[in-house]
Amino acid sequence: MGTGYVGLVTGACLAYLGHRVTCVDRDEERLKGLRSGRMPFYEPGLEDLVARGVGRGRLDFARVEGVAGLVDEADAIFVSVDTPQGEDGSADLSSVAAVARQIGRALAELRTGRGSPLVVVNKSTVPVGSGDYVSMLIRDGIEEAIGEGAGGEGAAGFLVVSNPEFLREGSAVYDSFFPDRIVAGADSREALDVLRTLYEPVIEQSFPTELDPRPKVAVPFITTDLASAEMIKYASNAFLATKISFINEIANICELVGADVSEVATAIGLDARIGSRFLNAGIGWGGSCFPKDIAALRAAAREYDYEAILLDAVAAVNVRQRKQVIAKLQRDLHTLKGKRIALLGLSFKPNTDDLRDAPSLEIASVLDSLGARAVGYDPVAGKAAAQKLPSLKVVFDPYEALGGAHAAVLITEWEEIRTLDLNRASALMDEPKVLVDGRNALDPEAAVEAGLSYRGFGRG
Ligand code: UDX
Repeated sequence: MGTGYVGLVTGACLAYLGHRVTCVDRDEERLKGLRSGRMPFYEPGLEDLVARGVGRGRLDFARVEGVAGLVDEADAIFVSVDTPQGEDGSADLSSVAAVARQIGRALAELRTGRGSPLVVVNKSTVPVGSGDYVSMLIRDGIEEAIGEGAGGEGAAGFLVVSNPEFLREGSAVYDSFFPDRIVAGADSREALDVLRTLYEPVIEQSFPTELDPRPKVAVPFITTDLASAEMIKYASNAFLATKISFINEIANICELVGADVSEVATAIGLDARIGSRFLNAGIGWGGSCFPKDIAALRAAAREYDYEAILLDAVAAVNVRQRKQVIAKLQRDLHTLKGKRIALLGLSFKPNTDDLRDAPSLEIASVLDSLGARAVGYDPVAGKAAAQKLPSLKVVFDPYEALGGAHAAVLITEWEEIRTLDLNRASALMDEPKVLVDGRNALDPEAAVEAGLSYRGFGRG
């Protein structure tokens, strides 16, 4: 249930593995698009995978009203609906709650009893305790329906499992087939066994490996209680965001003392206890997960009157990184009034069209408020960015964005942007030709040789 990133990718992957999958959504337009092969968002490899599932008769799409019929046949229902950030930072569970009630009603309306309990899999990122909350709401749904005269035999049969997802946008299909681990939390062994069976081909890496010919190594299947599984998701994302904010803090100190954070990150990353990934300094993290999950974890801590001071600092460092782009521009250009600034890359990271909590939009809107003209380019997110922020002029060629720009900011390290022709860029720009490299993705020496004033993050 839910055809967002998590639901659609999970559905298409499970169908590829040989299961029979119906993806359910309430948005008729989205379903119409999916039935005709149109993806609701940009994700490499997904379109092919969906087409393959549909072609083999293993994947189809249904409206949420049809859920009663599906509950009859399904071994498991994955709840993958949105859990947006509420005003106080906590996760808004209203979509999850609605789906849980619908499942309850559908269970109550079953004419014949199910042979085995329905396994309800919480895939959406939900606060600790939500597994029990979902069970309660399913029971509410059952009671409501029975109160209204429905009285099926299947009513008692359901089990709730938490199965957090760790897929990254831009490599979601790959991450689903080759995860570092699969986590399942439940109070019942039976439910965990159903999940293990569903994921068996991934755990054993026994599916056709045309996707990735690397050696087969079994994927750890971690079983826990419900609350721990829910916490594992938050703790993973909080740790990764902490790692990024940590290296950004070090980058800022590097800049003061004249050290190069790229060298520092490479060397500390070789310590196996630290690890080399997620140590790229720059304008920090955005997207649909880190900001929301960290806010939700901080909000959860506040409910217990606990001050999560480390997480508060992680978030504060991230806010400061974005502001540094403006500070760096001001240092070289002084006033930004009347200046033209090219923004290279607009999505929150490469290989996705997602603009949720994208640094580009915040930076563009500050530039606008300071009287500068921001001109943005992105290989896929341009149109959507222009709709979200009318003050941002969007063009469809990076060199057009650079034409007459006094400064350029590399915001998203798309391959196309990492490999820009810097000589051509410099020839097109106006003095003082400042290049703020928000992802430390370019070669500083090559930029200087091309005549640009290169400004990285923590690069001495
Ligand atoms: C993240 C988690 O990685 C994934 O496991 C979870 O399920 C969903 O959230 P995603 O948001 O798709 O995935 O992107 P990710 O690749 O983790 O990057 C998040 C942000 O951190 C991006 O804005 C990226 O630019 C930034 N980042 C990443 C850095 O600034 N530095 C790094 O070294 C790595």
